[in-house]
Amino acid sequence: MSRIVVIGSGIAGLFAALRLDEAGHDVVIITKQRPKDSSTNWAQGGIAGILDKTDGEGKDAHISDTLAAGDGLCDETVVRLVVEEAGDRIRDLLKAGVQFEKDGQEFHFVKEGGHTARRILHAKDATGAEIERALTEAVSKSDKITMRPHTLGVDLIQRQHGDPSKGIKGIWCLCLDSGEMEAISADAVLIATGGCGQLWERTTNPSVATGDGLAMALRAGASSKDMAFFQFHPTALMGDNKKPFLITEALRGEGGVLLDSEGLKKYRNSDLEPEELSFTLDFSKEGSLATRDVVARACDQKMKITGEDNVWLVTDHLDTQNLHDHFPTIEGRLNKIGLSLGRDPLPVAPAAHYMVGGLKVDIDGRVLMENGEAMPGLYGIGEVACTGMHGANRLASNSLLEAVVFANKASEHFIKNPIDNIEDVPEWRAEGMLELEEHAPLIRDLETLRKTMTDDVGIVRSFSRLERANRMLNLLSGEVDLIWRKSLPTRELVELRNLILVANLITDDALSRDENRGLHWNKDLI
Ligand code: SIN
Repeated sequence: MSRIVVIGSGIAGLFAALRLDEAGHDVVIITKQRPKDSSTNWAQGGIAGILDKTDGEGKDAHISDTLAAGDGLCDETVVRLVVEEAGDRIRDLLKAGVQFEKDGQEFHFVKEGGHTARRILHAKDATGAEIERALTEAVSKSDKITMRPHTLGVDLIQRQHGDPSKGIKGIWCLCLDSGEMEAISADAVLIATGGCGQLWERTTNPSVATGDGLAMALRAGASSKDMAFFQFHPTALMGDNKKPFLITEALRGEGGVLLDSEGLKKYRNSDLEPEELSFTLDFSKEGSLATRDVVARACDQKMKITGEDNVWLVTDHLDTQNLHDHFPTIEGRLNKIGLSLGRDPLPVAPAAHYMVGGLKVDIDGRVLMENGEAMPGLYGIGEVACTGMHGANRLASNSLLEAVVFANKASEHFIKNPIDNIEDVPEWRAEGMLELEEHAPLIRDLETLRKTMTDDVGIVRSFSRLERANRMLNLLSGEVDLIWRKSLPTRELVELRNLILVANLITDDALSRDENRGLHWNKDLI
């Protein structure tokens, strides 16, 4: 039987581990912090999908909403496949112990931006946490799956150094408890490391989202796709700038409305319904429930015009019992800062949320090289991968779905095409390397990086700002490279090196685009 290393402990990594385990393979999951420190665990909204296989109309509508949100750049074959498989994969989640919200005997579905129907399964407003709970519990019951927390993947080990076409035979990791490097051999490596929201000052992502898997695969010869499309979530709670807290789009699905300060004043002094006063109507007739690219841009533009740090999400016209029943996590968080759901306008602003581009993969999740061929023994699944499902803008709650479908596809592919790859792996070359004496320059460089991305590679871009970012990133890259060559790896150094590489990809891709589409918006191209 084979040994597979899975990097990452979110929905994609855990789901794939369970599939491989079922087929009798040994799996090692390496994860940077605790298993639950994943973006999945922070996901609020839910998982979109039509459960009834015979509901052709429902599936067609899900397909057309996904294609519309993707603004013409989705791969329709992939979209059809994912929507078609949704029912089976969601039933797999149920079998693994995930409990979605029910209304009596039936599942309760919610709606988010860009969806024309209620088709999102959820567990109140903490769907990701419920999925993470069930899958980690299932994984812990297997004696063929080893969970390695506090283990940071640093670089992939090529079968033949310098030749990506020969494939991957393992990974070098940094054990964060001991500070030691370790080489782990593998028949295949599945990268499921999520995104890179930590590139921006305000993000809804956990601290682990530093683009590690993407960066290490690129260094090993993989190619990336559509990196310019980074999704900002329109409604992250202001108040604690360091850790913006997501206010799920499902709240707008239940009728929450975005207003600017002027709209809020009018709303308080008139009998008008809030949606009639929303500035988002200037951007789309769907108003506060337009797709995320449109709503985030509307908020960004409004805040630039008014000079205010936030817009407002109002919910006082909604049924408070319904809010209380469905959004307990948000309610608890608001109460902590003296706000009340269903009463107070909530100060919200966009925050970096989801990497739509990523590692270029094929329909089986195999990571592709520049020449379009798959790299033997390497798979990319979940947010780290660009499958073509999301096009230029991801439809809300399609990501957990895409993650399970592709985790399944990649595992099935390996199960049907096992590679016998295990061989000796070289130790990390540490001779002559020094312990990093000072972390202060790295901290400064990280601050500069995040400021650069926030100021120059945000929701609305321009050529001059992107070029400025490019110059700054080259400088940072040179600095960090110098440190990297002479130092033993530390978490801070590994992450910064990865973040800079990914920032470069995003900026380069944004600079190369000559049209505005979905999430990429360059004001020089209007
Ligand atoms: C949300 O709950 O608003 C986020 C869901 C998603 O990003 O798909």
